[in-house]
Amino acid sequence: MKRDLISILDITAGELDQLLATAARMKEMRRKGQPHRCLPGKTLAMIFEKSSTRTRISFEVGMAELGGTALFLSVHDLQIGRGEEIRDTARVASRYVSAVMIRAYRHSTIEEFARYATIPVINGLSDLEHPCQILADIMTIKENFQKTEGIRVGWVGDGDNVCNSLILSSVLTGMEVTVATPPRFQPPEEILGRARAGGGRVRVVSDPREAVRDAHVVVTDTWVSMGTEEERDARLRAFSGYTINADMMDLAAPDAIFMHCLPAHRGQEVTDDVIEGPRSVVFDEAENRLHAQKALLAFLMQD
Ligand code: CP
Ligand code: NVA
Repeated sequence: MKRDLISILDITAGELDQLLATAARMKEMRRKGQPHRCLPGKTLAMIFEKSSTRTRISFEVGMAELGGTALFLSVHDLQIGRGEEIRDTARVASRYVSAVMIRAYRHSTIEEFARYATIPVINGLSDLEHPCQILADIMTIKENFQKTEGIRVGWVGDGDNVCNSLILSSVLTGMEVTVATPPRFQPPEEILGRARAGGGRVRVVSDPREAVRDAHVVVTDTWVSMGTEEERDARLRAFSGYTINADMMDLAAPDAIFMHCLPAHRGQEVTDDVIEGPRSVVFDEAENRLHAQKALLAFLMQD
């Protein structure tokens, strides 16, 4: 039966371990220039309703390195942009390609696509989750701490899609996640409930200092996610005081790392000295998108 990755909880803890081991192996093979073309003749369609730098490049390069092909499809060029139904697009695409990655405004769009597709569907970011980002983030955390169990993660800022996938991933990783957001921007109860029901250790607070104190990982994201631009001014006001700066990093564990999925807005969610500083691993994190997604593609698409 086909498998999808729409939520980070679409995989088990054991599968996550297996994916990360494959990702680490592929990273090493790539470094040594050893070929690892395990998807010859396979095709990935990449449907984008929103902009992307990392997701597009890493999936496209990833497919090429695995010996397959990726097609970049903007909804502005597809018939979806003129009203063709998602369910029809899903069934048509299933006749041509081996898997689909979709970045959509609404999570329900990706769920509908997956319901009608007969091939694996990957969530490349929705309003609810960003599971591919979290695969790379967990890989990066493991590289730095050699484990995830008991790692304290302090998320500061918007309780957004990336935050939601991080919260849910605590079920798989044993990481302790503390989220500090202004009250209006807390993660949805449904996400918190799912994580807690699965044994995830998650706290939601409003004081950012509480989230970063003794944290091994300090992480944030933009305050103005794609699709929320109309609220920009209100958001910038609401998040003032939630900037990760050097004083905040000083409250974290001595070996703490700073993470951000990017794109970053210096002077808003993070100061320039922190993102450019020695504790920042944001470019390793971005690189790991490639390795983690190659492992995911192999997992979902290999015969
Ligand atoms: N982090 C991330 O998904 O970046 P892009 O929006 O550039 O793909
Ligand atoms: N939360 C951000 C993540 C971008 C990769 C957004 O949805 O725009």
